[in-house]
Amino acid sequence: MHKPESYGITSSDITSENDYRNRRVFMKQAAFAAAGVLAAPFLDRTSVLPAQDKNSWKPLHAGKYSTTEDTNSFNDMSTYNNFYEFGTDKSDPARYASTLKPSPWNVSIEGLVKKPGVYPLGDILKGQSMEDRIYRHRCVEGWSMVIPWLGFPLANLIAKVEPTSKAKYIQFVTLFAPDQMPGQKEGTLRWPYVEGLRMDEAMNPLTLLATGLYGKPLPNQNGAPLRLVVPWKYGFKSIKSIVAIKFIDYQPQNSWNMSAPNEYGFYSNVNPDVDHPRWSQAKERRLGEFFKRKTLMFNGYGDIVGSLYAGMDLRKNF
Ligand code: MTE
Repeated sequence: MHKPESYGITSSDITSENDYRNRRVFMKQAAFAAAGVLAAPFLDRTSVLPAQDKNSWKPLHAGKYSTTEDTNSFNDMSTYNNFYEFGTDKSDPARYASTLKPSPWNVSIEGLVKKPGVYPLGDILKGQSMEDRIYRHRCVEGWSMVIPWLGFPLANLIAKVEPTSKAKYIQFVTLFAPDQMPGQKEGTLRWPYVEGLRMDEAMNPLTLLATGLYGKPLPNQNGAPLRLVVPWKYGFKSIKSIVAIKFIDYQPQNSWNMSAPNEYGFYSNVNPDVDHPRWSQAKERRLGEFFKRKTLMFNGYGDIVGSLYAGMDLRKNF
């Protein structure tokens, strides 16, 4: 398992002296290895890649939830993004997201929990076992990618903060800082961006909090320093740059539903049989491929998540 202090956070996010020392050791090892001096067997080999490239990267602990499909390139996933806080064009986040300051970073845990508080990111990550998870990523617009995320199950954070039995849903909130996120000066969406999950969806082992991809810290445009990844749902559920996680007893609002309620629902499960009002969802184009491929029910994760929706009318609950 990866150690969380090895990546995705900077020393200012880390509170304990011990963690700080570990990071210093890690950096030294990485410097040696980059110089070709040492290839210590205990060294996280993903951290010394010269280029984050799909041909040279192999996950250390891909685990049983990862797809074996070919991953997209780092270039695909860091230059073709939706992050409206930086503009509506797919190339805008890569061009403009350098103004985002992902460190230091706090996450506010609120609502129906026994351990609410404003936690430095280092405390949120402390003790979490990081995993490489290679997931399909299907955007509601009809494109898809395969992304090797680095993260940990949201369920493990939920366990740490101890929600009360009254908590039925979670709402997630993105940073609101128009000086860092110029798109928030525009009225494209209501800011800050918000998303939500039912508690059982949040607890599902597929649901990740990601701090990286290809074994490296998240690029700003992918939602640094902490984002949600819900691979059986359309991409917009995977909210970026999270500053608050609220435990509540009602179904929360989500940005795209507020913006166009007839087009984007709360559930947003990938479903090839339920068309978007303006286009079919039956097929998708994997970035880098010419021909479209069939979209899979629940994005191919039905054996793991299908039971969450047993008895629900997925046309109504889109
Ligand atoms: N989170 C925030 N805060 N703002 C956004 O505009 N876009 C969503 C989602 N999370 C978005 C967001 C959409 S529509 C998609 S498809 C995914 O992020 C894209 O993630 P990626 O850029 O890492 O592929």
